[in-house]
Amino acid sequence: MPGLIERYQSRLPFADGDPVISLEEGSTPLVFAPRLSERVGVEVWLKIEGANPTGSFKDRGMTCAVSAAVRDGAQAVICASTGNTAASLAAYAARAGIRGVVIVPEGKIAMGKLAQALMHGARVIALHGNFDRALQLVRELSATHPIALVNSVNEFRVEGQKTAAFEIAEELDEQLDALCIPVGNAGNITAYWRGFNELGMRPRMFGFQAAGAAPLVHGHPIEQPETVASAIRIGNPARWEQAMDAMTSSGGSVNAVSDEQILDAYRFLAAQEGVFCEPASAASVAGLIAHGAGEAQRVACVLTGHGLKDPDTALQQVGAVIPCEPELSAIERAVMS
Ligand code: F0G
Repeated sequence: MPGLIERYQSRLPFADGDPVISLEEGSTPLVFAPRLSERVGVEVWLKIEGANPTGSFKDRGMTCAVSAAVRDGAQAVICASTGNTAASLAAYAARAGIRGVVIVPEGKIAMGKLAQALMHGARVIALHGNFDRALQLVRELSATHPIALVNSVNEFRVEGQKTAAFEIAEELDEQLDALCIPVGNAGNITAYWRGFNELGMRPRMFGFQAAGAAPLVHGHPIEQPETVASAIRIGNPARWEQAMDAMTSSGGSVNAVSDEQILDAYRFLAAQEGVFCEPASAASVAGLIAHGAGEAQRVACVLTGHGLKDPDTALQQVGAVIPCEPELSAIERAVMS
């Protein structure tokens, strides 16, 4: 499959001959979820964004943001991140042969994401502060230094991420009543809404935030956001107004889900649907289970990142392995009991 820029060039701000930094992102599976559909009583489809090259939806935005940065002559790219943007930036910067710098909240990003950012050769800076502070600082830094900011405040990120809406539309013949999506910094819900609008579609947009990090639900920034879903541990989303507009003008809403509800959906998807996503991603399904999706008959849930990103949280949720002596009788007992 070609990458996104090649696949959707006529709908993206790129011209023939522009540099394209791609890892053949996008074209991710949209999988029907029979057990979840039965549980919630509507037809549910899962958009598996963990199937992107670095394991999250960020690659859609990053191919565009880094390609545009290279076109503009940037020698370095930077972001603040709860982990996935960092991993994606690092990979695309490596691919482009430019410097990558990421600022992450110290001790608060999942192990897989940290490994990715370091392996791809980015400079990883652990801030004694949260994501919101990190974003504030990189915005200030990039305003006065020749380093391109590729957080979702960058328009190219939103442009790239809107292509996920195109893919869902193609697969479902534009027949979709509602989209359920986790909301952190609010770039992705903004992007989906833009994508659907460009096609003349108006599915209800249901955004879900973790209860301890739910500024849009409370209507004010949260100073110290907390949740097991570290990817969406964000207290002051950059695209606040656009996210609220997507939800209100589509007839959707924003709601909170507890960590317990997130982890229940996380285990359910892995054990009942065979789909392993990260905790933040499961917020979309937790929200659908807890709050429903209005009158919708057909719903898509966006699973934003791969479960392997965060092995620590996974291992805390499941039973222990079974130790066994290397003898047939012992193996028999272990397997059959
Ligand atoms: N799900 C995952 C797995 C994420 O990594 C993020 C955001 C979101 C959902 C929320 O998307 O911010 O567009 O509303 N992660 C960012 C990062 C903040 O730095 O990786 P959003």
